[in-house]
Amino acid sequence: MRSGERPVSTLFDQIGLLYTGDPGREEIENAALVVDDGRVVWVGPAGSAPGADERVDTGGRCVIPGFVDSHAHLVFAGDRTAEFAARMSGASYTAGGIRTTVEATRAATDVRLAARTAALVAEMQAQGTTTVEIKSGYGLTVEDERRCLEIAQAFTEETTYLGAHVVPPDASSADDYVRTVTGEMLEACAPYARWIDVFCERGAFDADQTREILLAGTKAGLLPRIHANQLGNGPGAQIAAEVGAASADHCTHLTAEDVWALSSSGVVATLLPGAEFSTRSPYPDARRLLDAGVTVALATDCNPGSSFTSSMPFCVALAVREMRMTPLEAIRAATYGGARALRRGDIGTLRVGTRGDLVILDAPAYVHLAYRPGVPLVAQVWKEGRRLV
Ligand code: NIG
Ligand code: FE
Repeated sequence: MRSGERPVSTLFDQIGLLYTGDPGREEIENAALVVDDGRVVWVGPAGSAPGADERVDTGGRCVIPGFVDSHAHLVFAGDRTAEFAARMSGASYTAGGIRTTVEATRAATDVRLAARTAALVAEMQAQGTTTVEIKSGYGLTVEDERRCLEIAQAFTEETTYLGAHVVPPDASSADDYVRTVTGEMLEACAPYARWIDVFCERGAFDADQTREILLAGTKAGLLPRIHANQLGNGPGAQIAAEVGAASADHCTHLTAEDVWALSSSGVVATLLPGAEFSTRSPYPDARRLLDAGVTVALATDCNPGSSFTSSMPFCVALAVREMRMTPLEAIRAATYGGARALRRGDIGTLRVGTRGDLVILDAPAYVHLAYRPGVPLVAQVWKEGRRLV
């Protein structure tokens, strides 16, 4: 509802193709949809909708749910342009680059960090994202992690405590840092977070540390998710299954056992092709995951090191071209899949009762997101029935 006004209902009429994301009725041609008081209240054929306060003629264009970007690191300062340029000249990506951003983030004021986060969220919205998950992970002191999460909370309810991103250089030992992450830092951060995440990778945190950190987070009321199997094979995906994580993210290097663990546990595999693009690495095998019945999500991983894109349309195009996902699988992963990765039933689909979060594309079909890569096809963005873009 617009502040100070009564609830407004809006009819979106003459939709050429409505991608609902609702598994029972995924695509409807010549459709209409009504949003009232922020929620979808009616979906059906064009021209037969009940009346509403406002009518938007979508002119035969395609309407999709707002993108759910379920993995992003938006609270940071500093610049890693030179690191990217060096990679494009042959250097390889390592987790060590995170420390450069940590130094800059610690030195930045709250106002500066909030302004940069706001700019990235605005960039995302302009490209059709209506829900974004935001992680901490570039503070790595009790107070810096806490303030990064407090800033993130101003932009989303999907905030993630990632004190376990890397061991900062000023920690006296890895064990000592894990004690802080599971103790004082967790206590300070838990009130500002819904999720807890660990970068489970060589050079970051090992299997035992990951289990210990996720267990402590769960005891503090947070829900687990994991950065798993990004740079090489490792235990992350199987730990995700073991602890009942909502999602294992990256999943670039998976064994058959890892795929089986994900499919049998119902853990969502969140693929982040912007990271493979920006680190010039092989893409995850999406087909193997889909064929095994794993729910796949697509997200940007927006961060200054491994994937500095805020664009879900770009990730959809990469998923189709580089990961052999069909356009339908990619749009599903970017909407419904992201919602599943955040355990949300009220976003990522357009059916009666879900939030009125939608995008009108300047295209007759969502296939154009991959067919016309790099073209700004997002015409309008609505969140809870209010126009954002
Ligand atoms: O998801 N993998 C860990 N974290 C980020 C990269 C962070 C960075 O390089 O700054 C990622 O890719
Ligand atoms: Fe990440």
